[in-house]
Amino acid sequence: MTERWDGLVVGASLATLDASDGYAEIPDGALGWRDGMLCFVGPRSELPDAPEALADDVIEAEGWITPGLVDCHTHLVFAGDRAREFELRLQGATYEEIARAGGGIVSTVRAVREADENGLLAQSLPRARALLRDGVTTVEIKSGYGLNFDSERRMLRVARRIGQQLGLRVSTTYLGAHALPPEFAGRADDYVDAVVEWLPRLHDEGLVDAVDAFCEGIGFSPAQTRRVFEAARALGLPVKLHADQLSDLGGAALVAEFGGLSADHVEHTSPEGVRAMAACGAVAVLLPGAFHVLRETKLPPLDAFREHRVPMAVATDCNPGTSPLLSLRQAMQLACTHFRLTPAEALRGATVHGAQALGLPDRGVLRAGLRADFAIWRVQHPAELCYWLGGDLASAVFAGGVRLA
Ligand code: NIG
Ligand code: FE
Repeated sequence: MTERWDGLVVGASLATLDASDGYAEIPDGALGWRDGMLCFVGPRSELPDAPEALADDVIEAEGWITPGLVDCHTHLVFAGDRAREFELRLQGATYEEIARAGGGIVSTVRAVREADENGLLAQSLPRARALLRDGVTTVEIKSGYGLNFDSERRMLRVARRIGQQLGLRVSTTYLGAHALPPEFAGRADDYVDAVVEWLPRLHDEGLVDAVDAFCEGIGFSPAQTRRVFEAARALGLPVKLHADQLSDLGGAALVAEFGGLSADHVEHTSPEGVRAMAACGAVAVLLPGAFHVLRETKLPPLDAFREHRVPMAVATDCNPGTSPLLSLRQAMQLACTHFRLTPAEALRGATVHGAQALGLPDRGVLRAGLRADFAIWRVQHPAELCYWLGGDLASAVFAGGVRLA
């Protein structure tokens, strides 16, 4: 008998996602791990010995086990809320009108600048906890509501502390180029200089895993975005982009030019943009929460993504303005209803492709040798993960072999 495993789950079926499509199901499966990594993924009947002989901790489960969900696009560190803005939009104001009138992102910036680090952490932790309880084991968190050095730094520090406190893997993204802060009104190029100057300082503190920008009429131009990307490239940091959300500024092609990880939103991405993404292997991150809340009608080019084999991820975009969404499973549901993803595509988008959008090849699939990140669900079939609106379906969530929920 070789070294004992730290843990083993039996009694549930596995949706391993370890194939090029579908769930890659293993009925009556078994999942074993040691030192935080999976060491057995297969049918229970193929276990090399009796469960008690193999592992210290044997869990009898029911339902289905999936890889831990990966939420690859969130802005969950923020202060305050924008419920009033929601009311205004319901009365007919558009997101762009509110932003141009000094509301929108800039109103969250005011709240974040006023919050100290502990206050920001206290407000943000429940959101991360909600994601975790619904199966998320890896979450990306962006800055972008500070828009000055100290406040951007504070946001990124809070993001790291969330990971330490909850045991989740947090991937941080510097989004200094999210909006123009009021003190730079009319001086967008000067602000981009500042964003570029802050990046290496934040990176030196270990606070930046990737760099993002909001390339849009109400955000930054392609030329300004390019300068941010060049600064990232100089430090060897991967880029991603809020691209082609409200209009087509060629954001997806810009990501491709820089060999970026992902282009996100992508509702207005052109056929050329799709081809450029396919050629560089960038992921299309679909954010159906923002589409839903903004009552958008322009669908991302889903058939073109499928045809050109551009991987599609699904994320919450959790943020106070356009997507106050606290469940990745709910985002999967919206991706199915609004974008007509199949439930298997949506699950792949929230696992395999989410991990790819973060450049994390050690997760997103149940496979021996990868991280022991998984969720056990009270469902009869994995399609139920996309079928229920809300609910409490996760009976246990593990990251690195440690039970977090
Ligand atoms: O991903 N598009 C820009 N950023 C966010 C919205 C942030 C906000 O409105 O606070 C998004 O939708
Ligand atoms: Fe976003």
